[in-house]
This record gives sequence, structure tokens and C-alpha cells, in this order.
Amino acid sequence: MIERECDVLVVGAGGAGMRAAIAAAEAGCSTVVVTKSLLGKAHTVMAEGGIAAGIGNVDSVDSWEVHFADTMLGGHVINNWRMVELYAHEVIDRVYELERWGGLFDRTPDGRIMQRAFGAHSWRRLAHVGDRTGLELIRTCQDRLVHTAGAEVLMECTLVRLLLSGDAVGGAIGYDRNSGELVLIRAAAVVMASGGWGRMYRHTSNSWEGTGDGAAMAYEAGAELQDMEFVQFHPTGMVWPPGARGILVTEGVRGEGGILRNSEGERFMERYDPVKKDLSSRDVVARSIYKEVQAGRGSPHGGAFLDIATRLPAAEIHRKLPSMYEQFHSLAGVDITREPMEVYPTIHYTMGGLRVDAETAATTVPGLYAAGECAAGLHGANRLGGNSLGDILVFGRRAGEAAAEHARSRPSKPAPSGAQLRELEALIVEPLAGGGDTVDNPYTLHRDLQEAMQDDAGIGRSEESLTRALGAIGELRERAARVRVAGGRVLNPGWHACWDARFMLTISEAIVRSALERRESRGSQWRFDFPDEEDHWSRINLVAVRRGGEMRVEERPVPLMPDEAVRRLQQSRFFPTAVIPAHYARVIGGEAASPEAHA
Ligand code: FUM
Repeated sequence: MIERECDVLVVGAGGAGMRAAIAAAEAGCSTVVVTKSLLGKAHTVMAEGGIAAGIGNVDSVDSWEVHFADTMLGGHVINNWRMVELYAHEVIDRVYELERWGGLFDRTPDGRIMQRAFGAHSWRRLAHVGDRTGLELIRTCQDRLVHTAGAEVLMECTLVRLLLSGDAVGGAIGYDRNSGELVLIRAAAVVMASGGWGRMYRHTSNSWEGTGDGAAMAYEAGAELQDMEFVQFHPTGMVWPPGARGILVTEGVRGEGGILRNSEGERFMERYDPVKKDLSSRDVVARSIYKEVQAGRGSPHGGAFLDIATRLPAAEIHRKLPSMYEQFHSLAGVDITREPMEVYPTIHYTMGGLRVDAETAATTVPGLYAAGECAAGLHGANRLGGNSLGDILVFGRRAGEAAAEHARSRPSKPAPSGAQLRELEALIVEPLAGGGDTVDNPYTLHRDLQEAMQDDAGIGRSEESLTRALGAIGELRERAARVRVAGGRVLNPGWHACWDARFMLTISEAIVRSALERRESRGSQWRFDFPDEEDHWSRINLVAVRRGGEMRVEERPVPLMPDEAVRRLQQSRFFPTAVIPAHYARVIGGEAASPEAHA
């Protein structure tokens, strides 16, 4: 057995995990980072276009206040406003910190950090490194982490259960993916930074790691999963060839002037959002592409055309969007300096996640913290592009510091008893044990889950489709409990796939149950049967919680903004077209809401 004892365990080595680990180690805590994958390889790299920060280097009218307003309006005001406030304030320092740590940003002619336009941001706000910003963030944090004393990284480990001592978390247990040995980490505090869960959908920008393990484990340990109905379809994923379907086409293409057209050559976003057009929020652009395709105005492979060729000289495309050029050239044989790309919405991000305290990132389980994509609250019903790279830096740091503080005040790391360990080991190796179904397998199970989620809990949903999805998840759960794989513990991908499937089923159930409960359309939740945004639901966050072994969906009140913050909303350039719930419209003093159509 591989054993560690530390102050802080960080689960996940993307941007949030690394930033949390740096903070905890710098606070003097022994810190272990566990990643299912390899250090330096994380979905963070798929946030290509930049880090949103109201620095105002390009548009000097920008500020943290306008960034606050845009983020709240983009999230359809069910965000945790205090998280947004902390975020919009602190992300500016985090960008400069990254620069001090060696991050090489693109520059304005006078040498300051360059910023580009992105969807539903009032001003040019995204600090970027060409179309590889996430990669630069990861490389910079990785360099800092490996040079920070007190931090150790364990790679290629699947964690399966959080350890509990009473109601508090005390570490985690799992196994090494290569040797199959048990991995036991006793810790005084745990930071969950395990990212999102796009893999339960057929078309996703997420790589194989995105199966929701951390959020599912935390849920099993008693944490609340909030806003799970909000799953983000990035409007522009590749459509063709089939093997490339879902791969991200950065919003930076539209940020640099790219426009969407249908098969009739029409720039259709002018119709759906005459103000923001191609740089409307992701929920609106994704729905618009879907509608164009449904109306028979799709591209040959069932998407929309994205044109940068007629908007920027070839040399500028090579300089600003080198990865996009390379991606289309090598995967699709398309030269984007001459021809349009074909794109269609792809699952990219999850607004939902663990419910956390704004200041400390503490979940509802003592000793357990969460940051980044696996945490909820910052983005509300729809995330603005560029707000995830900032999120992981701001709340990764806060979570790491708060976990360190907790570890210092409650240093005990109780060891599980021999009987508990035997029970946990039996659970971990269950998919390898005899007596189950050896004909069914975890890969077909995964495929069937993807069919159910993509077709029935996708970009548009209804009571009928969601009920069908819930039924499918129930059946898949029964299959998952029985399925057994051949082979032993050493290098056995079938075993890993069994655990992936179990985690994804828990998360899928939370998505579907929450989506059923929210009887309205808001942000990324588009209900065909409830097409409008309802005032009643603007006061409610939904959480999925474990009660007596069953999943229940409960309501939590949205923390209401103080009047000063409500007034700040008016600073967004897009305020006049936003839907403002009655309780806030009263503060601003008038009819603020002219309902934006659900495009
Ligand atoms: O389109 C993109 O480059 C993605 C950015 C993000 O998700 O923040």
C-alpha cells in the first residue's frame, strides 16, 4: 500500500488544484496533490482564449465593477454575488501574479498585457497568450509548484472514497492506476479541485479525465451539489471529421472578429442578439446554432460556418490563433486562412458543483474545500468565457489558504481501522471480483449513458426527455453494480472505466433531477416545456443531497445582493437588454427588465 500523511490533500492537478497546493504549501503545510492523470495535463488547457480581468489595458473604461456586473448578468443573477465580487476584485492581482511567476502574455504595442474581446464581456478583457492561455497557466503554475517546498504530487491515482472521521473529512483512499496498489492519504483537510464532467455526453471538449470523480466522492461524503442542471455547451466545437467532433474551437476566433453564418450565408446572430451578435453569451449562441440547424440551415456536416478567413489577414490568423490553424489543418484538412470552419455546440463546462462558502471555499462537510470547475456559485446559470481561468486562480488560492488554516487548527489525521480498510479495499476491487456480469462491460455502459445524456438531457430538455434520461440512469446503475471485468490489478483500464462509470452515473442523476425540478429556462438550462425565465426561480438555487442513501433535490435561497451591488449591474454595457428579477428591479428604480428572448 502507498501511504501518505499530510496536512492538506489536494485532489486534482489542473489550475485550481495547483494554485491551492501552492497556497497550502506556502502557508507551511505538508501538501499532497493527487491526479488521476499526469502533471501538466488538465482540462485547464482547453480554456484557450484568455483570463478575464477588468484591468483596462486596452479599454480603459473597464474595471472590476463592470466585470462584476457582466458576470452576474451572464449568470442570470443566480450566482453567489459575494463570490463574484471577490473574484472580479482579486483576479486582477492573480493575473499579475502569474506574470511575475513567468507567464508570457501577449502585449499591447506599449508593452502591457494585451486583452481581447469575448462573449458578453462589456470590454476587451481577456489577458491571453495567443490561443494557448490555459496551457501557459498550467505550465507557469506547474513550474511554481515543483519549486515550492512541502508539496508532493502523486500521479495516475484514482481516488474512490473520502475518509470521514465523525462528520469531518480526514483524507482519501483509492488505487495506483499502474500497479493497482491501494493508495491511502490521511490529511487534516482536503481541497477538491477535480474539475468537471463532460465525459457523460457524446460530444465534449473534455478529455478522458472529466468524469466527475471528486464531486461524486464529496457528494457520497455528505456535501451538497448545487446548480447541477446548468451544463455549458460551448457554441463552437469541431463537427467533422467524426473523430474530431467536440474538440474546442476557441471563442477567441470570434473575439478576434470571426463571425457565424448559416448555409444561406446569413450572419444569423444579428437576428438572435442584435446587440452582442457573435459575441453574445454562450447559452444564447449555442441555442442559436442549434435552431439554425433544426431549421435546415446547417452546414454540410450539421453545424454552422465560422469564418475568420475574410475577417483577418492570414498572417494575423497565424499569429493570434496558431492552434486553431494547426487543429483544422491537421485534423480536418481545412485551411482556416482561406475557408470557413464548421462548428456545433460541444459540452465544455459545468456551472454546477459543490456548494461552497464564498470567502473560504469550504463545502458543507467540515475540512472539505472545493475550487474551480467542481465548485458552484461563481457562474450562476451560465459562465462567461474567460471566467474559468480566473476562477481557478482566485478560488484555488482561497481554498488552499483556508484548508491550511483548518489543518493548523485541527491537525488530527485519524487512521482507518483494519476492518474499515478491508471494507474499503473490497469496494475498490469489486469490479475485479467474480460473481457479477462479465458479458456487459463498462465501455458499452459509458456509451449508453452518453446516448441518454446527449439526447435527453442536452442543449434543450423537457419533462418527457428528462424522465426518460432518469429511467435510463436507473437501469445503467443496476448494470454498473453488476458489471465485472477480466484481468487483475496491474494496468487494467477496464477497472478504471468501471469507476468512471459509477462516478458519472451519480453526477448524471444530479444533473437530470435538478433539471427536472427547475421548471423554467435560464442560462444553459433550456426547457422546451417552460421556455421563459421565471421570477420565482431567480431566488432559488437547487442542491442535490444524499438523504438515507437516496438523492434528493432541495431548494436553497439565492444569497441576495445588497443594494450597492444591485446598482452596480447598471455598469454593464448589456444591462438594458438583461432580464432583472422584480426584487432587484425595484432597487434600481424602474422597469429594468425587457426580457431577452431565449434566442
Ligand atoms: O473558447 C475558449 O477559449 C474557452 C475559454 C473558456 O472556457 O473560458
